[in-house]
Amino acid sequence: MSKAAITGIHGYVPDYVLTNAELERMVDTNDEWITSRTGIKERHILKGEGMGSSHMGAKAVAGLLEKLNIKPQEVDLLICATTTPDYVFPCTANLICDMVGIRNVGSFDIQAACSGFLYALTVGSQFIETGKYKKVVVVGADKMSAIVDYTDRTTCVLFGDGAGAVMLEPNTDGFGILDSIIKSDGIGQNHLFQKAGGSRYPPSHETVEKRWHYVYQDGPSVFKFAVKNMADVSAEIMERNHLSGSDVAWLVPHQANKRIIDATAHRMGIESERVMMNIHRYGNTTAATIPLCLFDYESQLKKGDNLVLAAFGGGFTWGAAYVKWAY
Ligand code: UT7
Repeated sequence: MSKAAITGIHGYVPDYVLTNAELERMVDTNDEWITSRTGIKERHILKGEGMGSSHMGAKAVAGLLEKLNIKPQEVDLLICATTTPDYVFPCTANLICDMVGIRNVGSFDIQAACSGFLYALTVGSQFIETGKYKKVVVVGADKMSAIVDYTDRTTCVLFGDGAGAVMLEPNTDGFGILDSIIKSDGIGQNHLFQKAGGSRYPPSHETVEKRWHYVYQDGPSVFKFAVKNMADVSAEIMERNHLSGSDVAWLVPHQANKRIIDATAHRMGIESERVMMNIHRYGNTTAATIPLCLFDYESQLKKGDNLVLAAFGGGFTWGAAYVKWAY
């Protein structure tokens, strides 16, 4: 049976850089606190009227197609992971397809907060494994600045905007997404969420006044769950694939907090040189963190490298994937 191999990767972040120094002028925070508690130094922010997550997703997908010399007409399916869709509907995947010229094929969004890319990769790989499709694009795109309250120091320092996309194609030589685990538990629903704007609390003067359209996070509770579950699921995927720490060339973790990443790597027996890390440059870009890591480290990856991807996010949602790098 074919596996779904990642055959290309591309990333995009907007030009504007929001530094810790600028945040110091906006809220009562400081570079020392942000750096020591999170590892973040700067993040990129999408500016411009009428620009949504699709803008960044389309840049990533267009760059991917160009790099791989694949025409939009050759793509069989596009899946977008996002927590900050341009609209409630139509879906952002639909808009990205339109922007890059992909027509008459299926496209849909997946919402699994910070685990979105991992979920989308898992779903996308099924269409390849069954033999139904030959070219599936999975893109993670989030404009977190659209839902961040820049008067709330507990959240505004954490997030940034960006997008990353991968191409999935069949591989029968043992490379690709060899295993994945996705999990969720609604116990976390009130610890990290955007309360209003959906069908439970549609927009009203009251929801705006109460600031319910912004990200709310109970940081310490999420931290505890994230450390435990990201490490547990990474250990689980290693165990069931008989991988020890030394077999893993790279840990590719969701970039929410350097301390969570360090704890996961420690549990897996992987030293920091083999952990992809770019949180200092981008902050937490939600569904874009994992593809942006792969994009930044692409030149260091070798065919046959064992990668463990791991994520944790709102919901709660979490998961891991075992990938044998295909090029
Ligand atoms: O990606 C999806 C999943 N999300 C995560 O994985 C995030 C998980 N949570 C975290 O990463 C951490 O909890 C945070 C980075 C959000 C916060 O770090 P913490 O070590 O848990 O800090 P805390 O929330 O317990 O706050 C410690 C202190 C508080 O002051 P008091 O009450 O001790 O006086 C906060 O008010 O730090 C204060 N604080 C700040 N100080 C300066 C909170 N935010 C800031 C800030 N600058 N930006």
